[in-house]
This record gives sequence, structure tokens and C-alpha cells, in this order.
Amino acid sequence: MPETRPVPLPYRRERSWPFAPAAELVRLRSEEPLSRIPMPIPADPDLRVWLATRYSDVRGIMADPRFSNAPGPDEPRTRTRSATPPSLLGVDPPEHTRLRRPLTREFTVRGVNAMRTRIEEIVADRLAAMERAGPPADLLRDFALPVPVLVICELLGVPYRDRGDFRRRSDTLLDHSLGQEERARAAEETAAYMRALVQRHRADPGPELLGRLVREHGAVLTDADLVGLGSLLLVGGHETTANMLALGTLLLLRSPDQLAVVRDDPDAVAPAVEELLRYLSIVHFGVIRRATEDVTVAGRLVRAGELVVCSLPSANRDRDLLPDQPDRLDVTRRPVPHVAFGHGVHQCVGQQLARAELRIALPALLRRFPDLRLDVPFERIRYRDHALVYGVVSLPVRW
Ligand code: HEM
Repeated sequence: MPETRPVPLPYRRERSWPFAPAAELVRLRSEEPLSRIPMPIPADPDLRVWLATRYSDVRGIMADPRFSNAPGPDEPRTRTRSATPPSLLGVDPPEHTRLRRPLTREFTVRGVNAMRTRIEEIVADRLAAMERAGPPADLLRDFALPVPVLVICELLGVPYRDRGDFRRRSDTLLDHSLGQEERARAAEETAAYMRALVQRHRADPGPELLGRLVREHGAVLTDADLVGLGSLLLVGGHETTANMLALGTLLLLRSPDQLAVVRDDPDAVAPAVEELLRYLSIVHFGVIRRATEDVTVAGRLVRAGELVVCSLPSANRDRDLLPDQPDRLDVTRRPVPHVAFGHGVHQCVGQQLARAELRIALPALLRRFPDLRLDVPFERIRYRDHALVYGVVSLPVRW
């Protein structure tokens, strides 16, 4: 098979408009579903990777044990997971199973239901604070971020007063436009912070998740395991949901009919959240796997050691997943098995928590401020094209 035409770099993440995958991804999905693209990084300016854009291939790769999530022996440090302290995301079974099992019960639908009332209180508090401060507001800073940050802090046992520091580090970790050194420093600081917290819970296990992990699984989980898990949950637990909340609100503000459905019909909220997750696919360039042996994907040979990037935004707009107008937002459609939370063994641990937060926060916001609107022209909104998790830089609103 001849080498394919390289995809110009900007197409990797830039969207063709704020809510749709890059046009180049759409073209590749129909013409060249597994394509070879350059991914130059300082450590390896000639690095080339495979890009999978079709739903069936993306899902297949994520479920295939021949694709590893652990960095190879001489693999450059290209991925977010190598920037965060090593944990779940950077290991394969059986090591992955050992680390993930202690978390499973915490994050089941039942486990998350136990947190519902507290999430509702947190949402109500933040909305009341926004109302007291009066318009205008930055919806990201004043609502979309504090809600998941408070939830994950309370869940883990992380002091909320430390949020300024871990928010800053988390942004650095996920910002791929920054140098490797800067991101590595943020990873080290995150680990150091979590190490101190883990030691505190080792000495005196609190009632929160970190304390429970120490009490119930402290014999199997080392301090390094707990630091890795804690850091990943802290970062993964707020960046994603915050961006989904803010970007989801912006999308609904642009689609008033669909906004009204989410605001007015409680039964419509759960399917609407699934549609927003599918349509926005905010993890837009982070799912990377390494072939551990030669594997044929979409008729092409991926050699052992080569990297494959799975494009979730493209897969979630594929007609194989959704034959009926996949590029149209329709919050009333029956949910489909989208891959916004990934697939396979690494499928998002926190998905039920994220769903609960979105299902509570979105309608509560829209009901509290029925005339919520943008405080700047839509064209002035800036987006996080450079970050692993897509979203808005800020969201000025008034009511
Ligand atoms: C994994 C998306 C919320 C914790 C993942 C993956 C995706 C994802 C796509 C798979 C990555 C891969 O396979 O390489 C999202 C989205 C969220 C969200 C879109 C919100 C809308 C959360 C929350 C938490 C969380 C709230 C924690 C409380 C994790 C963890 C993993 C993960 C720990 C790694 C799982 C493993 O490797 O076994 N997430 N996530 N996420 N997510 Fe989430």
C-alpha cells in the first residue's frame, strides 16, 4: 500500500465550526478511514501515526487487546497519560485490572446515585451564587467549573481551597501547545500534591474515596498507585465535565428549540445528555493505542510498535453508528452506543458520575435563568483547540 498523503497538522484538532469535527477528518472517514499522518513532536519531529476515523474501526481498536495503552519501550512521551503520573490509562491488563477494580463499585450507577442529593445541593448553591452576583457572568468560571470541581473534591477528599493550584496544573497537563518540560513539571507537582494527601489518608483514613481506598484496598494499592489514581481522578473528574457543561450550554443557546426540551421536559434530559455527549465528543485527540503485533485495520497493515489515534469526534458522526443525519443535533433521538466515553477496558470510569452531573446541572441552569443568553457575539467565543479536552476558553453570559 503506498504511503498516504500527509494530513496538514492543523486538521488534527481544529474543528470546521465550533461543534463539528474538522472537515479533513470527515473526508478521511469516507476516503481513507485509516490514514497515515505526521505528528511531529520535539522528541521526534518525524513521528507518523495512524489515524482511525470510522466508528467500527475506532471501537474495534479500543476493544482489541492487541492494541496497548502502555507506552512502548522507546516511545516518545507523546500522550497526556505519560504527562500525568502513571496510572490506569497508561497500563494494560492484568495490571490495569488490579488498579481499576477498587474503583468499580464507587462509580456504579448505584454508587453515583448516593451522591445525587449532594450534587443537587452543589448545583443549587452555585446557581444561587451566580444570581446573587448578578449578570454578567462567565458561565465556565462561575458554574461549569466549580460544580465538577466541588463534586470531585468532596468525593476524593481533596480540600476545595486547593483548587486554584490543581486547576492551573490540570490545564497545563492537558494543553498540548505547551512544551514537554512545562507539562512534565505540572505532572510532578500534581503527583507531589497527591502524595502528601495520600500520606495524610494513610495516617488517618478519612471517610472519602481516598480514605476508603486506603482502608479497603490499602494492602493491594501502593502509595504510588494511590497517587496515580488520585491524580487521574482529580484531573479527569473535573476538566471533562466542566467543558461538556459549558460547551453543551453554548450549543443549546444556539438551538433554542432543543434548549426548551431540556429545560421543560424532565424525561427528555437523559437522552438529551447522550446526544450532547455524542455530538460534541470533547475528548478530541487523546485516545492513542500502540499495536503490540501486526494488525490489519480497514484493510491496511498496522505494524507492531506503531501508534494509532482514534478520532472520537469523527467516529461519533459516522453513519455506521447513526444512519439518520449524524451531523444534526437532535436531543430527542434514541441514544446510540456512542464512544464519547471511549470503549473497552479503558472506557471512562467516571461516566455515570459525569452523566449525573450533566443531567442535574443543565436543566437546573436553564430553569433558574430562562432567558440566559450570550453576552458577546457568538463569533467572539474562543475555543480550546489546543487542548486534549475541547471546550470554550470562557463563556460570557447574562440573563
Ligand atoms: C477514561 C471521557 C468524565 C475519570 C476516559 C476515556 C474517555 C473519557 C474518552 C477513555 C480514554 C482512553 O481510552 O484512552 C470522559 C468524558 C467525561 C468524563 C467525555 C465527561 C463528560 C470523567 C469523570 C471521571 C473520569 C467525571 C472521574 C470521576 C476517568 C478515568 C479514566 C477515564 C479514571 C481512565 C479509565 C481507565 O483507563 O480504565 N474518560 N470522561 N472521567 N475517565 Fe473519563
